[in-house]
Amino acid sequence: MQEKKSIHGAWASRWIFILAATGSAVGLGNIWKFPYIAGENGGGAFVLVYLVCILMVGVPIMMAEVFIGRRGRQSPINAMKDVAIEANHSGKWSFVGWMGVLAGFMIFSFYSVVAGWVLYYIAGMGTGDFIAIGSDDAGKVFNDLLADPQTLLIWHTIFVAMVMVVIVGGVKKGLENAVKLLMPALFILLLIMLGYSMQTEGFSQGFDFLFHFDFSELSWNAVLIALGHSFFTLSLGMGAIMAYGSYMPKKTSIGGSVITIAAMDTIVALIAGLVIFPIVFANGMDPGAGPGLMFVTLPVAFGQMPGGQIFGFVFFLLVGIAAWTSAISLIEPAAAWLVEKFGWSRVPACIVLGLVVWGLGIAALGSFNFISDFKMMGFNVFDFLDFMTANVMLPLGGLFIAIFAGWFVTRKMAEDELAISSPLLFNAWYIALRYVSPVAVAVIFILNLVEKLK
Ligand code: PHE
Repeated sequence: MQEKKSIHGAWASRWIFILAATGSAVGLGNIWKFPYIAGENGGGAFVLVYLVCILMVGVPIMMAEVFIGRRGRQSPINAMKDVAIEANHSGKWSFVGWMGVLAGFMIFSFYSVVAGWVLYYIAGMGTGDFIAIGSDDAGKVFNDLLADPQTLLIWHTIFVAMVMVVIVGGVKKGLENAVKLLMPALFILLLIMLGYSMQTEGFSQGFDFLFHFDFSELSWNAVLIALGHSFFTLSLGMGAIMAYGSYMPKKTSIGGSVITIAAMDTIVALIAGLVIFPIVFANGMDPGAGPGLMFVTLPVAFGQMPGGQIFGFVFFLLVGIAAWTSAISLIEPAAAWLVEKFGWSRVPACIVLGLVVWGLGIAALGSFNFISDFKMMGFNVFDFLDFMTANVMLPLGGLFIAIFAGWFVTRKMAEDELAISSPLLFNAWYIALRYVSPVAVAVIFILNLVEKLK
């Protein structure tokens, strides 16, 4: 069979693919969300469940996404369709790609709001607004920001523009150049922060909190959150990794690349925890502070420490870069599809998509002010978008991808594409994909429902 090529271009090498996919995976999920949900769910035991989910569910599904993407060489919508047809099944499997595009928009709309907070804090740290700030004042700064739609709108708009500027450049000039520059910067900044936190007196307490396994605090809801987060943090279940896989050079190992990406993502999340919790404990603050953890507790700590202005600036810069390289991958599948479908260049595609996500973001940022009373299923818009995507749509998307790749695509196609030389490893992957991950997702979903109904 003739080897397909993507009309969008291809990554220069396997390492660029790894860098780009790691850029997608490492984001607000690792640095903002993981520490606060670990904090809310009791720490260690939650972390253990999360690690198991990454290994048993996340890695096998990520391999499936990459191989479908590379086999189809198109946006997830068209790749799903073509690979299904190649395996003699209905092209309607493209619905998984559609659901992913929708999930991408929904995630982007609250992601961009949080990224906007981060930009605001970069500026605030840089100009010394947080020097010697007390916890009441830090809470006030954050709450005032949330209450002010205009300021939120400005930063949200800037973030949307930053993302679109990269996507408009396309795979080589836009995405590849961005990750080549930003990812090394991210790792350096992270190591600086880790070095700093290891010297604080709260380090061993923070370490204990993350790695001390106490199962008595664990509920089925916490397990669902851990599962959902393993999808969110690895960018799975919505086609981001599938799209990146479609630009991956042939003849490079999918399994090895995916394990590298998952390992880097996990390491960054754990390091983020090891940066944040020691600072929290050293200042006698509450690890279960929720979404405000990073925005309220940390500035207080930075405000009091020697050199805190610089470390605070470095920290938020790091978070901003991480959010940026992730947000790109939320929109790339839709951009690629517009280009394929209508033969547009990237400029009109990005204008259209930019307007869509910009508008959706306004609803998300309004959750904290002008539409704060508006509730869906008891959530405000922001929390609804977060809950629906991370805990419902991504696991569901992942479930469909696992079923599709495990039961509908032929074994021969999977063997061809993955080219795993050891039959043992291939079988381990295949069993994890066909049985372990679908059953795990289904069981956790059902147990949760039962718990909620009780
Ligand atoms: N993985 C990103 C994070 O952890 C979020 C994301 C989810 C990005 C899904 C793309 C797709 O922040």
